[in-house]
Amino acid sequence: MAFGSSSGIRFFNYFALPSHVVRFMARVVIMGSCLLFISLLISSKSSKIPQYQKPPTPLPMRKKASRSLTATLLQRPSPSTTTIPKQKTGYYLCPKLTGGLGNSMFVYASVYGIARSTGRQLFMEHNNMDAVFGHLNGTVNKELCNRKRLKELKSKTHCSYDPDMLQMPDQHNYLVGEYLQSFKYFEKYQNEIRQQFTIKQELKNKACECLQDIAKNYTSSLNKTLSTSSVTFISVHVRRGDMLEQSHFRKYGYQIPKEDYVIKAMAYMKTLYSNIAFVFASNDMKWVKSKFHGKDIFFPKLSDAHSQFAILSSCNHSITSIGTYGWWSAYLAGGTTLYYKYPAREGSDLRKQFSSDYKDFFLRNWIGLS
Ligand SMILES: *[C@@H]1O[C@H](CO)[C@@H](O)[C@H](O)[C@H]1NC(C)=O
Ligand SMILES: *[C@@H]1O[C@H](CO)[C@@H](O)[C@H](O)[C@H]1NC(C)=O
Ligand SMILES: *[C@@H]1O[C@H](CO)[C@@H](O)[C@H](O)[C@H]1NC(C)=O
Ligand SMILES: *[C@@H]1O[C@H](CO)[C@@H](O)[C@H](O)[C@H]1NC(C)=O
Repeated sequence: MAFGSSSGIRFFNYFALPSHVVRFMARVVIMGSCLLFISLLISSKSSKIPQYQKPPTPLPMRKKASRSLTATLLQRPSPSTTTIPKQKTGYYLCPKLTGGLGNSMFVYASVYGIARSTGRQLFMEHNNMDAVFGHLNGTVNKELCNRKRLKELKSKTHCSYDPDMLQMPDQHNYLVGEYLQSFKYFEKYQNEIRQQFTIKQELKNKACECLQDIAKNYTSSLNKTLSTSSVTFISVHVRRGDMLEQSHFRKYGYQIPKEDYVIKAMAYMKTLYSNIAFVFASNDMKWVKSKFHGKDIFFPKLSDAHSQFAILSSCNHSITSIGTYGWWSAYLAGGTTLYYKYPAREGSDLRKQFSSDYKDFFLRNWIGLS
């Protein structure tokens, strides 16, 4: 659209400006935009935006940019709205953070992996994990991650890897998510992920004290002199509560492992390790305490979700049930991990979110039991 198009005239008529003023303003705008264009051309050749340092200027979407230059300049007289820099690194991603700790960790880690793979920066609209982790590389920037200014990028399924997530068109900034529950998005950067998901020192100290306490009780009950460092802590996370009580979870397809899965998993661990102290955590401790007791079974007194997460992820090995909270504590613990093989009912909507073999979700060396 050329200058003086109908939209331009309508704009001026609206303010009822005299025509010589209109012509004068038009000249100023044209000259200004030519100068800007030239200076931006020069500067775009001489400067590169370094990754993970300089917050990029948010960019308009391509549709807007291809509209009449004059109309754009009149509406928003900012030079950054007139050109789209060539460097991919000027663009950024924001994870769509929702849900509890486990879900947030997944979307953060996956979007981190996608950002690293595509040479983009990472920002967050808020950090809902800062009570647990002291340093995430994604910088909080409410303005840049304002959902209204971003295009949304969603995966085809929630719990399997979608390679198209790395094929986003270059000229946009994206809000990415919201589940992205596959380790394959961040597999290449797992050291960076583990480093960022280092649990805050004070939470870690409390978790250590708690495990020391358990080790003391365990060794004294055995009447053996056993140093606490030779005790093998195995976490047992039993997700029940909400998953059982709320019918929408069941309808969607969640299958909750029963008592016999936990018994089988504990027996399996006993074939691999000795001097085991099983450390239980659940959102249904009443049920767990009614079903499991013994000299090697412990229920930590710290019961809030963050302390329990710190305890579970400080254990040597893990028995998980369902849910992402247990998934992440096992991932961070890094030992032998047993998982429930059938977390989703065949034919359910939840089942469709996973790959047919569940291999995008559970790590390759984790062991599935039924
Ligand atoms: C992430 O933050 C840590 C700590 O500040 C820093 O050492 C590391 O280089 C950062 N990683 C990236 C990829 O920016
Ligand atoms: C350890 O034993 C003491 C004394 O019997 C008890 O008060 C405490 O609750 C036990 N701790 C754990 C973690 O079981
Ligand atoms: C440990 O010793 C106490 C007495 O000191 C005894 O009552 C208990 O049965 C012993 N436990 C085991 C496992 O030997
Ligand atoms: C289990 O992990 C703790 C650290 O959390 C360590 O001190 C201990 O030696 C480990 N136990 C075994 C048997 O490896």
